[in-house]
Order: sequence, then structure tokens, then C-alpha cells
Amino acid sequence: MVARVIPVDCFDLVIFGATGDLARRKILPGLYRRWKEGQIPEGCTIVGAARSDLEADGFRELVRAALEEFLPQPEVQPETVASFLDMLAYVTIDARGDAGWPELAALMRTGKVHAFYFSVAPALFGDIAKRLKERGIADRESRIVVEKPFGKDLATARKLNESLASYFHEDQIYRIDHYLGKETVQNLMAVRFANILFEPLWNAQYIDHVQITVAETVGVGGRGEYYDTSGAIRDMVQNHMMQLLCLIAMEPPNCFEPDAMRDEKLKVIRALDPVAPAEIVRGQYRGKDGDDYLSESGNPDSRTESFVAMKLHVSNWRWKGTPFYLRTGKRLRARASEIAVTFKEPPHSIFGESNQWRENMLVIRLQPDEGMDLRVMIKEPGPGGMRLKDVALDMSFAEALGDDLDIPDAYERLIMDVIRGNQTLFMRGDEVEAAWAWVDPAIDMMEQRGDVPEPYEPASAGPEGSMMLMHRDGRRWREMR
Ligand code: BG6
Repeated sequence: MVARVIPVDCFDLVIFGATGDLARRKILPGLYRRWKEGQIPEGCTIVGAARSDLEADGFRELVRAALEEFLPQPEVQPETVASFLDMLAYVTIDARGDAGWPELAALMRTGKVHAFYFSVAPALFGDIAKRLKERGIADRESRIVVEKPFGKDLATARKLNESLASYFHEDQIYRIDHYLGKETVQNLMAVRFANILFEPLWNAQYIDHVQITVAETVGVGGRGEYYDTSGAIRDMVQNHMMQLLCLIAMEPPNCFEPDAMRDEKLKVIRALDPVAPAEIVRGQYRGKDGDDYLSESGNPDSRTESFVAMKLHVSNWRWKGTPFYLRTGKRLRARASEIAVTFKEPPHSIFGESNQWRENMLVIRLQPDEGMDLRVMIKEPGPGGMRLKDVALDMSFAEALGDDLDIPDAYERLIMDVIRGNQTLFMRGDEVEAAWAWVDPAIDMMEQRGDVPEPYEPASAGPEGSMMLMHRDGRRWREMR
């Protein structure tokens, strides 16, 4: 099934940090794919802005190389690449000085959507915002896009919000959490709010617990230096995992509009109990040479976690008594992200004790093999007594929707949403601050106690303590495979 493509309005998009890793891996290949699909109209300009002293042609060559490196080969079609490169311009810019700003101003055309993507260190957000505004390059209609990490705690996130708010209104600020751009993450909303089936059961009366897993096989690799100052809680829980939790736990908004959605997500974050020390397990992969966190991070004394598991409680009418278990980590056995909603036992069994009852479970696979799996009990075929068996009503989206299903990458969708002026899949400032306000005390507590993460074998399911977190409650994690 080929996705329906609705062209966006004509735009000028400036990418600050255009020669950096994110721009080369995600932003520029994403824009190329949208161009190839006909979603970007003729007449748009994509301006690379970075410190590197390049001419436009040098930038085009860099982009061509990035497309060849990061896109599947059949997608890189020479004529389409050539026409895409024609759209590109470049300015060498000094984010903290004067160089390059007049040249940038001269490239902007009136009558188009103007968007500015800050793919740079957060320390530069304020400097860039100030220059864009004071030099009249951005106006009330312009949009700015900012990336994570949005701060490293509540205080720094607040500062960033304040500095952006000095120059731009909240409805101009697009804070990216790329998980919200993933097709399957949006599908969580469709499953919950476009079906009558689940909603009546979607509460503590019927749901025993929820497991959210984001497991990666990769290690910290070349990002060791950044990662060691962050760790899994800041890198994944405060943002991506929190967003998944919100989408599962939120009340139905009255419409699919930015503030209606974000108001409901914010209520979930604010309803989270502080996490108890005994309900959080941190781990660090410890293997040989290339598989060892300490050598990859370059910090032999590191106490940074590459894995975390935690049990959360959402204190509100709907969820009181239903725990949410979260786990995420690097160098694990499998790349597997999923949400498993486990339902409670029926109140009474008419089939007697001999029948092994298994929980009904709804599993939403986010990646890979995106799909849904609903485990239900049926009668085991054959004569004799009534024996029950649990089977999966398993649906792979690729199979259900056709093999040529073209799922856009999260960045493609999100950048097009910026151009359309739709903030539904972006985080609002108060949401980001609320998430930090919740994780900060947990991080502080562990730092003050000088906790050392529990070692785990690379290619395992994480540290023993994570299993124990579940076992103590008479539950277990779903197998990671
Ligand atoms: C990023 C984190 O935000 O998300 C990375 O900084 C992580 O550490 C990545 O690997 C995971 O994203 P995805 O899309 O590969 O699941």
C-alpha cells in the first residue's frame, strides 16, 4: 500500500549544524525521500548553515555522499538526487558572532514558510534564536525545531525554555522526540482511540500491568563521551519512554489537536509517583574489549547506566493499582521495542482447576516487525474434556497492509509536520519540564548514594536485578527476542 502524499506549502528550511551527524544521517536523507515522493514542491530552498568553510557545491557533494551512505541504494536515483541537490544552498555561519548572518538573510524569500532546524548543541540554541530574531530573519510566522537532549535536568531545561521564549512563542517551537514520529507509536493512539474494543477494559480494574521495553543491540559506540554524561535514564526514559507511557496511560483527548493531546500527556506525567529506590535497577554491559561499556565510554570509573528497569505508578482514578514496568538498554540480546498490556484473570472460571489459564495480553510491537498480537484463550481441538490453550491473534502490519508498504522514517514525517504547522507530535515546554521534574529526584538519589550499576553480559536480557524486580511481584518480563 503506497502512502497518500499531500504536498506541503513552499518553504525555506535552514538547517543549523547541516554538516553534523544527525543532518547527514536523518534530516537530509529524510528530506530527499519526501522530495522523491513528490511531497516537497518546486521552488523550496534548503539552506545548510554550519561552521565549516564550504561553498554550496562542497555542501552538495557532502549531501550526495550522505544520501549514498544512509539510504538504500535503489532509492538513490541520479536524476532525483541531482534535482534535490539543486534545492540546496549553504552559508558558513558563526552562531555566536556576526559572520554569515547577512548572507543567510539574503537567501530567505518572502511568501514561503520559514523553518529553522537547530541541529546543534543546546548551548547554542539561545545564540541562534537571538540572531534570527534580532536580525529580522525570523518573524512571528517562522518555526524553529530543536532536538534532544533538551537539558540535562529540570534547571537546564527551564533555562533553555526561557531563552527560546525570549525570542519565539510556544506555538513556533517544535521540540522533537523522534519516537512520536514513528508510525507504530502513532498507531498506539489509533488502537486506543479509534476502536471501541479496548477502551472499556483500559484501566486498573482489568489491566494487571503494562510492560514497556525498548531494547537495543548496539552499544554506545562512537557516542561514548556524550552518553557517559547522560545514561539510559536521561537518554531514553525522560523522553522516549515517557512519551510511550503517556500514550498508553492518557485519557482520551477530545480531538487530535496539539494542545488537547499535550494537556492529557502532561496530566499523566504529573500523576506519576516518585520512583522508590527499590523499584529502579541500573545496569552496565561489561564484556570483552569492544563489548565493554567502560572501554567504549573511555571512562574506566564510569557509574553511568547503559540499562535501566523501573516500576512506575500512575496515581489517578484510572490506574491506581496497575504498575507500569519500563526497561531499556544497550547491547542487549535483541533489538525489540514493544508494549505489552497484560489483562487480569476472569473473575470466575467455569472450566475448573485443571485448565491452565494464561493471561490475555495485547502486545504492540513498535520495531522491528511492527504489528499487534492479542493473546486469547481457545479450546484445544480434540475429543475429551474441555482443555484450553492460549493462541496469538497475530498481525504484522507489513502483511496486513501489503509488502510494498512505504513507512516514512520518523524524521520525514516530523519535518513535514513542521512545514504544515502541526505541533501534535512535538513536545510542549511544560511537558519536557514535568518529565525532568519526575526523573531528577531519582537520578539525584542514585548519584548521592554513589550507586554502581549492576554489570550484565552483552547480548543478554540485562542484569539479574531487572528479573528480580518482576519476580518479586510474581510477574516476569516477556522474552526478548
Ligand atoms: C536516541 C538515543 O534518542 O534514540 C539513542 O539518544 C538511541 O541512544 C536512539 O539509540 C534509539 O532510537 P531508535 O529510533 O533507533 O529506536
